[in-house]
Amino acid sequence: MAVKAEILQGDCVEELRRYPDDFFDLIITSPPYADRRQHTYGGIKPEQYVAWFLDRSAEFLRVLKPTGSFVLNIKEKAENGERHTYVIELILAMRQQGWLWTEEYIWHKRNCYPGKWPNRFRDAWERCLHFTKSRKFKMNQDAVMVPMGDWADARLKSLGKNDVVRFDSQVGSGFGKNIANWAKRSMAYPTNVLHLATECGNKNHSAAFPRALPDWFIKLFTDEEDWVLDPFAGSGTTLEVAKGLGRNTVGIDILLEYCEMARETVLGKPYQLLEERAQYAVTNKATGKPRRAKA
Ligand SMILES: C[S@@+](CC[C@H](N)C(=O)[O-])C[C@H]1O[C@@H](n2cnc3c(N)ncnc32)[C@H](O)[C@@H]1O
Repeated sequence: MAVKAEILQGDCVEELRRYPDDFFDLIITSPPYADRRQHTYGGIKPEQYVAWFLDRSAEFLRVLKPTGSFVLNIKEKAENGERHTYVIELILAMRQQGWLWTEEYIWHKRNCYPGKWPNRFRDAWERCLHFTKSRKFKMNQDAVMVPMGDWADARLKSLGKNDVVRFDSQVGSGFGKNIANWAKRSMAYPTNVLHLATECGNKNHSAAFPRALPDWFIKLFTDEEDWVLDPFAGSGTTLEVAKGLGRNTVGIDILLEYCEMARETVLGKPYQLLEERAQYAVTNKATGKPRRAKA
């Protein structure tokens, strides 16, 4: 069956109203970060970020299936010598909104920029917060297994035969027995740390994430023909990967130029306007007034 891919221009809070409750299997996105990139697509002040996001996450909660997952790639910036707390506040507020904060994955950026700061080292990781609507959600753990490598050999050697026996008898944990079972296998389940290089090939969007990021979560949390949403789709990385994996997909972006870019990448054809172009407001930080997306 041919999969469907749809790219919508507008504010995701508005565009999602056309979708029914419990429709999507996975929502995965990297939202605009607080106060960042206001010249490109508007910036939300850190102190307004939680309220701004909650309006949108209320819609995400509505359109996500009870067995679905929401993966939010985000990282708080540092300001005035300390880390901002808006991501932590957002997690707490989303729990109040009805989300379960099921897990936090770390995207370790293997090739982050070098740099020097007086009070910290360079940023080499971002959060991938995993929210669900229920404790029973779809998770295809076998789809993301990794080669065992020589981990088991090295681990067993360092423990020694007697240590394994001691672990078992002392605490009754079964640790020795479990580790021996794993030693016979060629594949293991991964950790919650993803070691991925930042994308160098996709230079059309100033904040594109690497294809490997949505790839991993789409395989983990969906099956073929499931529906994947990216409500802040940018250049369409999520849609491109979802389509390639045989998933139906919807992407929303407030800026027309990104929708055009995504349409070209995902659908392989230039953007054809079928209806009159809508205009969407992006806040101008300096004036506080809405600025128009390019039409
Ligand atoms: C961090 S970027 C996403 C990049 C994307 N993951 C990629 O790989 O290209 C965030 C995107 O959100 C869009 N955006 C900002 N506010 C929005 C809103 N209210 N609704 C929909 N999209 C929005 C921006 O135009 C921007 O392209």
